[in-house]
Amino acid sequence: MSKLVFLSDFVLQEQDVSPDIAKVLAAVEIASKIVSHDIRQAGLVDHILGAQGLDNIQGEAQQKLDLVADDAFIDAFQNCGAVCGIASEENEDFVAFTSDEAKNADLIVLFDPLDGSSNIDVNVSIGTIFSIYRRVSAKGTPATLEDMLQPGTEQVAAGYVLYGSSTMLIYAAAKGVNGFTLDPQSNQFCLSHPNLLMPSVGRMYAMNEGNINACDPKLKSYLAYCQSDENDFNAPYSGRYIGSLVADFHRNLIKGGIYIYPAVHAHPAGRLRLLYECNPLAFIAEKSGGLATTGQERILELKPTSLHQRVPYFVGSKNMVEKAMSLLQ
Ligand code: AHG
Ligand code: MN
Ligand code: MN
Repeated sequence: MSKLVFLSDFVLQEQDVSPDIAKVLAAVEIASKIVSHDIRQAGLVDHILGAQGLDNIQGEAQQKLDLVADDAFIDAFQNCGAVCGIASEENEDFVAFTSDEAKNADLIVLFDPLDGSSNIDVNVSIGTIFSIYRRVSAKGTPATLEDMLQPGTEQVAAGYVLYGSSTMLIYAAAKGVNGFTLDPQSNQFCLSHPNLLMPSVGRMYAMNEGNINACDPKLKSYLAYCQSDENDFNAPYSGRYIGSLVADFHRNLIKGGIYIYPAVHAHPAGRLRLLYECNPLAFIAEKSGGLATTGQERILELKPTSLHQRVPYFVGSKNMVEKAMSLLQ
């Protein structure tokens, strides 16, 4: 068997991982191991399963694990020495770290600490999604809202941790996308999926079809195409919807497929958050050969107007996203 490459070694070898990005990755590694460990004993301890009794800024019931994960990642970013500020899906406002070291740091991290909250209590895959930018404000000063509201094209790197049947960390930067699996024995993330490329077409589509009568009727014609013998495989695609974006995305990254969360009556601007979910996964999709749009526009070119902004989302295999867009015109 060839020698295992740990994430910490990979970071040293890769030319497009600067020392400050390496510190952020080390922080992701620390926090995700805490969260992964907690998840693996979820039903046996008090602080993981169930709601914690309050709603977040978006009116969604916060689960205990949403907050455990939020605290773990904020702590890790605050202490890593390379991050001047963060914004998280679970907090109303962004946080500008106050230490001198943080004020002199260059990086911003935007993240969804726990994606797929509704799946926590039923032992189904969940994840953490993160996105890294360079600040636009001056070094030595506190991070600003402007630092947080940069278009996705400005991302330096992005990734996610999937707490699935194994725990995996996917990391995307200028040179491409690599996947690491957490080895339970050594407790190290080991390179398992080098140079990931998303197939340009797949045989699976993911959408909450309960929403089909609550969205643009033109989407029905795309789903009919997916379900027909007239598509590019001359056989119906399989429907797969986990309800954890990060897990649905990961399946499509490996096998090919499309994920759709359109504007629906209950969420007229879409349900998914541009800063914490759509931009990082759009960056990973594009770096692996896929595509991400609102159905009309490229996600990465949107200029964010607020921290918790939502957008309609079509992401996955390039040909499938293009086909869906062509039927929406
Ligand atoms: P979060 O748990 O971070 O709030 O995100 C949930 C998101 C996403 O993960 C998932 O794909 C989608 O919401 C599910 O929404 P529906 O239950 O409306 O299908
Ligand atoms: Mn989410
Ligand atoms: Mn979340």
